[in-house]
Amino acid sequence: MPRPLVAGNWKMNGTAATAVGLTEAVIAATAADADAVQIVLAPPFTALPAVAAALAGSQLRLAAQDMHWLERGAMTGAVSPPMVAEFASHVILGHSERRAHFGETDIDVNRKVHAAIRHGLAPIVCVGETRLQRDEGRTDAVIECQLRLGLGDLGADRSASLAIAYEPVWAIGSNDPCDPDEADRVIGQIRDWLAGAFGDEAGSRARLLYGGSVTSGNAVQYLSRPGIDGALVGGASLDADGFAAIVRAAR
Ligand code: 13P
Repeated sequence: MPRPLVAGNWKMNGTAATAVGLTEAVIAATAADADAVQIVLAPPFTALPAVAAALAGSQLRLAAQDMHWLERGAMTGAVSPPMVAEFASHVILGHSERRAHFGETDIDVNRKVHAAIRHGLAPIVCVGETRLQRDEGRTDAVIECQLRLGLGDLGADRSASLAIAYEPVWAIGSNDPCDPDEADRVIGQIRDWLAGAFGDEAGSRARLLYGGSVTSGNAVQYLSRPGIDGALVGGASLDADGFAAIVRAAR
């Protein structure tokens, strides 16, 4: 059984200077659990070097929140896989905010997943349905489509480092978290899909996370489930003690 994974997605919050303070506070607050739980911090791009330095010697790992798939070139404002890999071990891909605000498609996600693996970065791929899609009864079909396109042409060997975060769009930043039974059901479907696509071993090796209004108060309802391997935490990851309580629940 792989260790549980708890990742903090800081989104567009903080500067390099404040990120170092938060990183040091998280290291201190999670010290007792850092052996048992893989903790990943995802600060904004500009803070990656400073947070990487602050994490040196700790067991915590660093993620970018996105990246381009190309290695270099005329892509004003974009950050390439080698630029991310210089500092980070993980990268969040296909977050619903990237899809909604930056027009990212499943095809883009697929290019990024392949690029991440080529550069030795472990992808944390986000999937999830909107409220409308859920109300129309299309949750499973939407997620199946995101997986099929986003993970297209990956193969069992290249799926080894994969984590998938089930983040219902309507549950993100909403104080309306997904019912734990339903999160568990959807994550079970994702596991079955992975096993079908990449084989049973790959299906059981991939870490499947829940994300969407996870807090220190509700984390245990998700993390106590055998099928849920961790959490992708947004707002609550900006508070070191609250985040540490979520890590403790994962343990
Ligand atoms: P919240 O935890 O703020 O709902 O955000 C979840 C998320 O989008 C993590 O990637």
